[in-house]
Amino acid sequence: MRNDTIEFRPLTRHIGAEVHGVDLRQPLDDEAFRTLHGGLLEHLVLFFRDQDIDHEQHVAFGRRFGELHIHPSAPCVDGRPELMKIHADATSPFAEGTAWHTDVSADEEPPMASILHLSTVPSVGGDTLFSNMYAAYDALSDTMKSVLDPLEALHTADVHVNRYEQIGGGLRREEHPHAIHPVIRTHPETGRKLIYVNQPFTQNIVGMTQAESDALLEFLYAHNAKPQFQCRFRWRKNSIAMWDNRCTQHHATWDYYPETRSGVRVTIKGDRPYH
Ligand code: SIN
Repeated sequence: MRNDTIEFRPLTRHIGAEVHGVDLRQPLDDEAFRTLHGGLLEHLVLFFRDQDIDHEQHVAFGRRFGELHIHPSAPCVDGRPELMKIHADATSPFAEGTAWHTDVSADEEPPMASILHLSTVPSVGGDTLFSNMYAAYDALSDTMKSVLDPLEALHTADVHVNRYEQIGGGLRREEHPHAIHPVIRTHPETGRKLIYVNQPFTQNIVGMTQAESDALLEFLYAHNAKPQFQCRFRWRKNSIAMWDNRCTQHHATWDYYPETRSGVRVTIKGDRPYH
């Protein structure tokens, strides 16, 4: 299939589009790459159907967007740390990503995007929800924006590292990732502002007592999770989701126990967030 007829069909007004007219088993030519890159910036999450890609094609697709990120602790495909396993079955102590988050925000330079391909899906369930953090920022009052704009928060991955040890992962780096990031960051490509705190990684807002920080963060987590900022993706075998990790959050749903849901994620390196 040629890649010259790419079409985006939005899922909602704010976030998500299904992409038609592209075969990801083929290398992307420059025009197709530019179209998909532009589509990602516009729709924030792209969904592809019936893409029976192998690991090399998955890696090649990811590399078109930049250098690949290595997860600090998650299990990977044998000897391939750039291929992160996403897997849950009847024996799993937990499923990955079942709280609103953006990937590895505890890294000093968190990933710019993630590309998840599922090869096994449950008979029903296992949807992933995505939320638009520009829209969440835009919906705040000007007064709240001016309170949040100068703030910074500490993000750490301690909880995740310990969890991953239970399923065959472990720390790949010398220390657990941790970083201080702006609470409101500017997207490096669109220049738009967005909310950049998430419950699994953000520990506290710098310069506040824990009680003050908890109250403000709880408000933001509830605000970020409002349905009007979201879309919901129903997976099929060989579906792919690609999300802009800088301006979205996502939430996997583990409602299919004891069935199996399995796939691989390739993640693309990003930049240090700034105000
Ligand atoms: C993740 O990358 O956080 C997992 C998403 C999913 O399993 O849908």
